[in-house]
Amino acid sequence: MPDITLVEVGPRDGLQNEKGVVATDIKLALIRRLADAGFSRIEATAFVSPKWVPQMADHAAVMAGVPRRAGLIYSVLAPNEKGAAAAIAAGADEIAVFTAASESFARKNTNCSIAESLERFLPVMALARQAGIPVRGYVSCVLDCPYEGAIPAQAVAEVAARLDELGCVEISLGDTIGRGTPEATAAMVEAVAARVPVGRLAGHFHDTAGRALANVAAAHALGVTVFDGSVGGLGGCPYAPGAAGNVATEALVGFFEGQGLSTGIDLARLAETGRWVRAELGRAGG
Ligand code: HMG
Ligand code: MG
Repeated sequence: MPDITLVEVGPRDGLQNEKGVVATDIKLALIRRLADAGFSRIEATAFVSPKWVPQMADHAAVMAGVPRRAGLIYSVLAPNEKGAAAAIAAGADEIAVFTAASESFARKNTNCSIAESLERFLPVMALARQAGIPVRGYVSCVLDCPYEGAIPAQAVAEVAARLDELGCVEISLGDTIGRGTPEATAAMVEAVAARVPVGRLAGHFHDTAGRALANVAAAHALGVTVFDGSVGGLGGCPYAPGAAGNVATEALVGFFEGQGLSTGIDLARLAETGRWVRAELGRAGG
């Protein structure tokens, strides 16, 4: 086991906001390259409404084409029973449910309140249990919300505790719009860790203000060892205006390996993949 577990969310969080259609073959080539770089956990796609997120409409085709490797887990987002049933039928190894610590964001992102989103997870948990696969839980807007501003740490702790009670094996704490500071990150992680063991928490930082790595360091100092990243720093949330990409997974690998902590990722291959995907998407630095 590496010291740090990196969850590569580029094929989902990295691509969901792309304006032009990204061909399924490009997504599959990306996933194959990420598997070759050594990831054990890749978030491959989202079984959400294609009307809400058109870029993820090819979810079943993506899952049908992913390279299967021993020890490689493909996680997919599912917001409700319909998504979970389709995800399981498509061969997902893990489902990720998602809600928020901000009522306004929950409504914009999933058209329901936080409490209603949690209700919708009950059948998701039941289907996953029947299928024998784990469920990860995301909390968005753990530091700031594009509609409500700063979010109290206790609100995050409350939602994380509810996801824990529902049976989520891991809870990923999302600084959706990347405005968080290391101080706020530490206070938030401390509040959540008082309710959910820190070993079951993950950090999901976006880099809008260039503080993602500082926030990662703050969470790591409190015992978090699982972090989400997106190759090439791609991404953003369609329902979070102004959100920049996730912290680049390349930066996470460099950050941790530079401290002598293993990640199990081949940085040269990952960096090459970052350049390749940015070029495919017509981004600067490709
Ligand atoms: P709704 O419109 O309230 O849903 O959307 P509904 O239950 O009323 O159904 C309306 C239509 O959607 C129906 O179809 C359903 O069948 C269909 P129609 O009869 O009109 O033809 N539908 C679905 N279709 C496919 N897959 C499904 C599904 N469910 C219903 N699963 C809903 C509610 C949650 C579905 C919608 O709001 C949605 O799909 N939202 C997803 C938004 C999203 O994906 N956001 C980005 C991911 S979250 C994120 O990026 C944050 C994260 O990275 C962490 C962080 O950074 O903070 C995770
Ligand atoms: Mg995100």
